[in-house]
Amino acid sequence: MNPSKTGAVGPSKKTIPWWEPSIGPKVKDRVFRVIESGYLNDGEVTAELEKRLMELTGSAHAVGVSSGTAGLFLSLVACGVGPGDEVLVPDVTFIATANAVSLAGATTVLVDVRREDFSIDPEKIAEALTPKTRAILPVHVNGRSADMDAILSIARAHGLKVVEDAAETLGASWKKRSLGTLGDAGALSFASSKLVTTGQGGAVLTNNHKVRDRIKELKDQGRLHTGTGGDDKHPVVGYNFKLTNLQAAVALAQLEEIEERTTHLRNLYEWYRQGLAGIKGLRLLPFDFASGQQPQWIDVMTPRRDQLAEFLLRRGIRTRKFWFPLHTQPPYRDREDRFPNASAVCREGLWLPSSVTLRRQEVARVTEAIREFFLKGS
Ligand SMILES: Cc1ncc(COP(=O)(O)O)c(C=O)c1O
Repeated sequence: MNPSKTGAVGPSKKTIPWWEPSIGPKVKDRVFRVIESGYLNDGEVTAELEKRLMELTGSAHAVGVSSGTAGLFLSLVACGVGPGDEVLVPDVTFIATANAVSLAGATTVLVDVRREDFSIDPEKIAEALTPKTRAILPVHVNGRSADMDAILSIARAHGLKVVEDAAETLGASWKKRSLGTLGDAGALSFASSKLVTTGQGGAVLTNNHKVRDRIKELKDQGRLHTGTGGDDKHPVVGYNFKLTNLQAAVALAQLEEIEERTTHLRNLYEWYRQGLAGIKGLRLLPFDFASGQQPQWIDVMTPRRDQLAEFLLRRGIRTRKFWFPLHTQPPYRDREDRFPNASAVCREGLWLPSSVTLRRQEVARVTEAIREFFLKGS
């Protein structure tokens, strides 16, 4: 229910969304130019976006795809993962990560996470390895990198592939290298709540030209080169996971202001930090900017998470709860006692309003409401 429609918020107070995209005149202008060009499909504008992503991330190659999920699936298949293989996936992630493994015909093996950044715990990887393990799929949740040194060294020691879920990482890095460029391949997402969004969309980053070519043919009906569309050669089986010129235009316009966007998110973090200082029972999760972490959203932890979310909703402030741990979802159900950290984190985690359009006085409205909740009780 929308509280602004129930009168719970009051006439002058607009509902604050958890996230809303920022689509300005530059987007409209670029999209209009694609429409005028008459070629809406995956083409030159998609190639321009791929080039821009390569410049931005330092990746040797980038391939536009229809979603982050498709990017993960294509990366896994291009790395040789398939039926009979096991892939290690952290228990705290959006379910798309595991679903991409299923789509590739492989089996997800869940691993508990580290409490501080919700990334796959390298110390728990050893006990999850079997002769069938083929790849590790670390997720960099909310712009905080997994421990890539440890993960890459385990992968090297056991001959495993590493596919990074970099869906939430635009602008974030690990030891000065962009997330998504450290493993064999990494998938970005341009879904609706991302820093750059095309509604749906994504891209794969890789430094390996063979992986790039394999992804290109898999995403476009098994052909590397498009001719007339009628007399093309299709040497292998492929699918349709393309990113269109229309979508690429939307992304390119937003990427023109990527610096402003990442700076705004860091400012949001600072405003929240000041506004929430000293509240007992609530912890704002820190970002280490110097090490390359980059917030996509602002996150807090509190044992009273559900009550806080309801209280804020009554004040016209929308939030987003952390995902349920994957081991509790029916397709990936596993033993509760194997995931103590994931269970604790997912019970208490909440993402606060974090839009690139959010203004300082709106952050103040959120932090004052949170202060009121903890001082007076709900
Ligand atoms: C961590 C994570 N992995 C994978 C995905 C899947 O991306 P998409 O929605 O673009 O398929 C998302 C976002 O939706 C995500 O947040």
